[in-house]
Amino acid sequence: MSAPPELPDVVRRAFEVSRRAGYVSFCRNETGRLLATLAATRDGTMAEFGTGCGVGTAWLRSGVRDQRARILTAELDPRLAQAAGEIFADDPLVEVLAADWSTLLDKGPFSLLFLDSEQPGAVGVDALADLVADGGIVVLDDFTPCEQWPPVTYGRVDVLREQWLTDPRFTAVEVMVASDASTIIATKR
Ligand SMILES: C[S@@+](CC[C@H](N)C(=O)[O-])C[C@H]1O[C@@H](n2cnc3c(N)ncnc32)[C@H](O)[C@@H]1O
Repeated sequence: MSAPPELPDVVRRAFEVSRRAGYVSFCRNETGRLLATLAATRDGTMAEFGTGCGVGTAWLRSGVRDQRARILTAELDPRLAQAAGEIFADDPLVEVLAADWSTLLDKGPFSLLFLDSEQPGAVGVDALADLVADGGIVVLDDFTPCEQWPPVTYGRVDVLREQWLTDPRFTAVEVMVASDASTIIATKR
């Protein structure tokens, strides 16, 4: 374990809301700590596709250093969006939108974009490259580490992972956040 077990207050509150909503599809703490670390390097507007119950949003929020930064997050399921909204009700830096992620398409460019809406086909590089500011960071979660190239998932070439790791508009890396989980971090050139 390379990080202390204590959770930031806002993340603890997000877990309480998740538990009450019976929702368990949140990012793992290792990814959360990565999100917080990256958010601490950002100013401007950050965005998340797929809020769930707000755990990833809370990790991002815990890292924010610049009080002029903002986090916009979109969740398709209105029940989850409302639950996540509770966590940030008094927080002017975070806005939870009960909407498809496409509602954020005209709200960029973003200094950080966390893609976590479980729709891999819809979040390809071409659809999103212009939404990211120069020097902005895209984070994609939930990959299974793979040592071969091209990357293979369930016996097929993982085209999404291959795209993000090779697109000339980004400098990208796959980082293992745990022995069984990796994340792609791509910086806009
Ligand atoms: C893995 S969960 C998100 C977890 C959250 N980011 C976290 O770290 O705690 C994926 C969420 O994306 C939402 N979702 C799926 N399709 C979506 C879409 N088109 N627009 C916005 N949210 C979507 C799902 O309802 C689900 O709550």
